[in-house]
Amino acid sequence: MAASDISAGIGADLDYIRGAGLFRKRRVIKSPQGAVVTVDNQRLVNFCSNDYLGFANDDRLIRALQQAAETYGVGSGASQLVCGRSSMHAELETELARITGRDRAVVFSSGYLANLSLARTLCPGRTDLIVADRLSHASMIDAARLSPAVFKRYRHADPVSLEQQLNKWGQKRKLVLTDSVFSMDGDVAPLPDIVKVCRQARACLVVDDAHGFGVLGKSGRGALEYFDLGQEDVPLLMATFGKALGVFGAFIAGQTQLIELLIQRARTYIYTTALPPALAATALMSLRLLDDEPWRREHLQTLIKRFQEGAVQLGLPILPSSTPIQPLMVGSASAAVKLSDKLFHQGFFISAIRPPSVPNNTARLRITLSAAHTEEQIDHLLDALLETVAVK
Ligand SMILES: Cc1ncc(COP(=O)(O)O)c(C=O)c1O
Repeated sequence: MAASDISAGIGADLDYIRGAGLFRKRRVIKSPQGAVVTVDNQRLVNFCSNDYLGFANDDRLIRALQQAAETYGVGSGASQLVCGRSSMHAELETELARITGRDRAVVFSSGYLANLSLARTLCPGRTDLIVADRLSHASMIDAARLSPAVFKRYRHADPVSLEQQLNKWGQKRKLVLTDSVFSMDGDVAPLPDIVKVCRQARACLVVDDAHGFGVLGKSGRGALEYFDLGQEDVPLLMATFGKALGVFGAFIAGQTQLIELLIQRARTYIYTTALPPALAATALMSLRLLDDEPWRREHLQTLIKRFQEGAVQLGLPILPSSTPIQPLMVGSASAAVKLSDKLFHQGFFISAIRPPSVPNNTARLRITLSAAHTEEQIDHLLDALLETVAVK
């Protein structure tokens, strides 16, 4: 085959990625997800999963998946608008609308696709404005880039900076995008203040609650329950099933008309195969367990407190976070990889997070805690970190 200009440049690109310490190795897991996993034939305590409540290998979810597969089969066959929508999708959407206190919900095949749908559907013109938190998840940033609207970013978690951006541009329709819990820093957006700014500017607010849903709020309904914010405050709520719920897929919930427009126009809803019905059934079961087992959230909070207090006492360079995401700051990408490798050999699985997932020189270990962990495992981790990390 004749070489193309693309293939000619690939070697140099890969060399650059390796040289900058940014090469990503894909570890192979040979066990189910859980507090302990088998990686490359080694048993490791897992501190890098988003399975915050320990549901990913839950017996009841496995049975729900098996039973639904017996009834509905494996594949969904087509997009939801063709023939891929089963009664499981319909039931899940009704339940999601009910528990989030929203008019309607629509299920997407993944959170990335759900976020991608938003900007172009709601702000399709050059006269529109999209404003996102500087540290918003990549899927929101990519969404904004897919729209011809003017796209601006505001200073991280700063309602004043948001207000300035919203007032600076004369655009008519305005969409504001923010995560509730920031995926790499673990901090929580000041949502009540952001809501106020959006209301004043007549902007539509979308909250991505991927890391809050299931974890925050008295009954685990996420950041909006935590802050007591309703649909009038946050017209669109997005969350995933792949993190605290332990499954796969995502949804957007909100006002009837907004959801209907997404169904009619969102390209990442229309032009992709529907989530398999058995996964919709499994997500439904997970939502029920959220209600039945508050002890998971309570235990998780105990572990978060234990880790934060222990790390502060030891002088470890962690960010102040009250969520299961506990970043340990390293700096250079290659130092973060070295530290991750050292901990791997001591029996801990914590992957290094590097640019472009985080800003330059802020590479880190993104330590994540789960209700599946024990207090003893947290203490062992703290001991190992004290041994391996340069303490302030
Ligand atoms: C904040 C945030 N939004 C969206 C997504 C995408 O969700 P999914 O993994 O379901 O595509 C993720 C997960 O990677 C995330 O962390």
